[in-house]
Amino acid sequence: MQYTNLGNTDLRVSRLALGLGFRGQDSEREAQRLIEHAIASGINFIDCANKYRLLTGAPNEHGSSEEILGRVLAQHRQEVVITTKVGAEVGLGFDGGGGSGANIVLQAEQSLRRLRTDTIDLYLLHVFDHLTPLEETFAALDQLVKSGKVRHIGCCNYQAWQLCKALWTCERQAITRPICSQNNYSLLNRQIEREMLPLVEDQRLGLMAYSPLAVGLLSGNYQPGTAPPAGSLWDARRPEFDTIMRGPSADLLEAARHTAQARGVTMPQLALNWVLSQPHVSVAITGADTITQLDDNLGAFGWSLNEQELAALDQHRVELTVW
Ligand SMILES: NC(=O)c1ccc[n+]([C@@H]2O[C@H](COP(=O)([O-])OP(=O)(O)OC[C@H]3O[C@@H](n4cnc5c(N)ncnc54)[C@H](OP(=O)(O)O)[C@@H]3O)[C@@H](O)[C@H]2O)c1
Repeated sequence: MQYTNLGNTDLRVSRLALGLGFRGQDSEREAQRLIEHAIASGINFIDCANKYRLLTGAPNEHGSSEEILGRVLAQHRQEVVITTKVGAEVGLGFDGGGGSGANIVLQAEQSLRRLRTDTIDLYLLHVFDHLTPLEETFAALDQLVKSGKVRHIGCCNYQAWQLCKALWTCERQAITRPICSQNNYSLLNRQIEREMLPLVEDQRLGLMAYSPLAVGLLSGNYQPGTAPPAGSLWDARRPEFDTIMRGPSADLLEAARHTAQARGVTMPQLALNWVLSQPHVSVAITGADTITQLDDNLGAFGWSLNEQELAALDQHRVELTVW
């Protein structure tokens, strides 16, 4: 495992983080085993959100990922750096979204209770809130830091201009500034290379790349011209899958498959290795749902793509956003 300091901070984190979005895991017991296995494998960075839950959880069972992580933290709190997020809408019949001061304080208290911890190492705004003044959002986060309930703050899914405005707001108010950005980044979505990565470099921020397999499209299970395996994640998203496979993403997938085969690695290993080799990427967040998948993904370390391989992949620059 490789480790890095996130942004300009003392947070020492593994370059592979485990995400608890659980797109394909419905067992609490297996989810807990997965987190424990990740920690035993050297992963010390766990990415969570107040919204995340097991695959089959009812929509109003938001927070089940935090509860499962909380049970693991009872034994392992000192060994891991945890994130959780606020701002996306959660549950049915209960909003919980937005960056208002009141919502942030309420959601932070609920997350701390579910996580069974006194402090969140990195508290992330899940989405940009166009309705609440940035002054209000970041003042609330600053209060959480000053009270010790949160150590650091960051932003997810912000455009570069939005993050720049947030940094500017914090500087003007002399309050806690974000230390990192979390964005969608993979061989299939290179959008952040134009504006966000230069900002991250300039401001010495950390960059957490989520969906490094483009929500499984780069898992090796999907091929252009072939139907997705029955019962798979993309079988359930068939019209979207067919549209994607008719576009430039199909060429990238083929190039990635050839490169992985020639090098003797799996597609997930190739895709993760590529993300982690990009300048200014601190961490890739894996969405592995099982121990087998996680072990496969750990094979992304210990080797480097050569210039010819990188050039072959660079021939197909794609900006596909999938959630
Ligand atoms: N901030 C945000 O807005 C945001 C948004 C999305 C995600 N995230 C974070 O990023 C994490 C990862 O996102 P993601 O789930 O989109 O990641 P991903 O790694 O792109 O996709 C995950 C899916 O890929 C498949 N997979 C993973 N490893 C595999 C392997 N070795 N072999 C075969 N299939 C494999 C699994 O699908 P199957 O099991 O169905 O095959 C899994 O559900 C989330 O858990 C969350 O922590 C953050």
